[in-house]
Amino acid sequence: MNILLIGSGGREHALALALSRSAGLETLFIAPGNPGTAALGRNVSLDVADHKAVVDFCRTLQVGLVVVGPEAPLVAGLVDDLDAAGIPAFGPGKAAAQLEGSKGFTKDLCREFSIPTAAYERFSDAASAKAYVRQQGAPIVVKADGLAAGKGVVVAMTLAEAEAAVDLIFGGAFGAAGAEVVVEDFLDGEEASFFALCDGERALAFASAQDHKRVGDGDTGPNTGGMGAYSPAPIMTEEMTHRVMAEIIEPTLRGMKSRGTPFKGVLFAGLMIGRDGPKLIEFNVRFGDPETQVMLPRLRDDLAALLLASAKGALPAGPVQLSPEAALTVVYAAKGYPDAPERGSEIRNLDAASAMPGVTIYHAGTRLEGDRLLANGGRVLNVTGRAPTVAEAQTRAYAAVDAIDWPGGFCRRDIGWRAVKAD
Ligand code: AMP
Ligand code: GLY
Repeated sequence: MNILLIGSGGREHALALALSRSAGLETLFIAPGNPGTAALGRNVSLDVADHKAVVDFCRTLQVGLVVVGPEAPLVAGLVDDLDAAGIPAFGPGKAAAQLEGSKGFTKDLCREFSIPTAAYERFSDAASAKAYVRQQGAPIVVKADGLAAGKGVVVAMTLAEAEAAVDLIFGGAFGAAGAEVVVEDFLDGEEASFFALCDGERALAFASAQDHKRVGDGDTGPNTGGMGAYSPAPIMTEEMTHRVMAEIIEPTLRGMKSRGTPFKGVLFAGLMIGRDGPKLIEFNVRFGDPETQVMLPRLRDDLAALLLASAKGALPAGPVQLSPEAALTVVYAAKGYPDAPERGSEIRNLDAASAMPGVTIYHAGTRLEGDRLLANGGRVLNVTGRAPTVAEAQTRAYAAVDAIDWPGGFCRRDIGWRAVKAD
């Protein structure tokens, strides 16, 4: 089978590596891919916003499965057009992608189907949002409704901060994503990311991870797309996994089906685990970045077979086979990230670092100029260690980071601190 993978980040390099090991794979195409995926398949330039061009490509090259990495093509309905053309595609259609595309949509689904989440209200004007904020008191959380690249959420510790966030969002800071605002209660507890494969009818627990969103050591500074992650998340015990499946994932699948928009693809639940159990913070409708870079190295099953089964509505009974080993990834970012990452600095000694035991390095924002590897984005490399414990995986990942010669980069030095402390 030929597979087309869409995307260009570290997540897609990790997906490409796992797909390249699948038994049924003939040729892997990646659009557009990056220098890491180029070693695993054929990078192709394809305008993924042009759905007809993607369908034509799949027909011409006899693609038997399309795997969509990022959310934007899902929200734009690429999978609907592939489905209509009879081309199996992993990921939800446009209507089901609203689980990520609109926070208000997801909150209303939670209310209708009794899925545990923070109490909330939706607003389309600043005055009523602020009145609600004052009535509820701080701390309180203010969110732009739509896709804002992870930046449309303000956890406000004071009323003044919350009101400023309302003004910022309605003031147009996030464009159309901020036409509506969701205000919700502040949740206390420990965060975890949980992933379930879905086929419209059924869900299969996949894996858990914990990420570090803040740019600085000690979880300080502005939020980013993620500075590192590890898997499994120690808080996601077998019992907690059962609860999350029964209380959050399965009711979501039933709700989406009963509304006539069944969900297939991967459901990525951002959870807050508090004293009274798991609550949903948000859904994403795709694999996480960098969570994928720590989950897939643990996968023992054939990834292409699982994703094809999800696309075709025929997931196996499970369970998914994962190595009990831990994996931990450190995001090596260009100086200036997240505000203004510097592009073009040279990265050396990557091959020697990649050859260290238990280490895999995924490319995210890199590009080749001749045989020189250059930084070409914010999050540039994902340096991943595998080992029996999170602490050992951390040691391996940082040893590889230190072997890379890249004066233009920086990383957090404490990825995994919570799990390492508990080990
Ligand atoms: P989101 O983009 O919705 O995942 O939010 C980004 C981050 O904001 C989450 O990972 C949490 O750390 C935090 N957050 C979001 N909603 C809440 C909430 N209701 N209570 C506490 N923290 C939250
Ligand atoms: N790491 C968070 C995300 O992929 O959205």
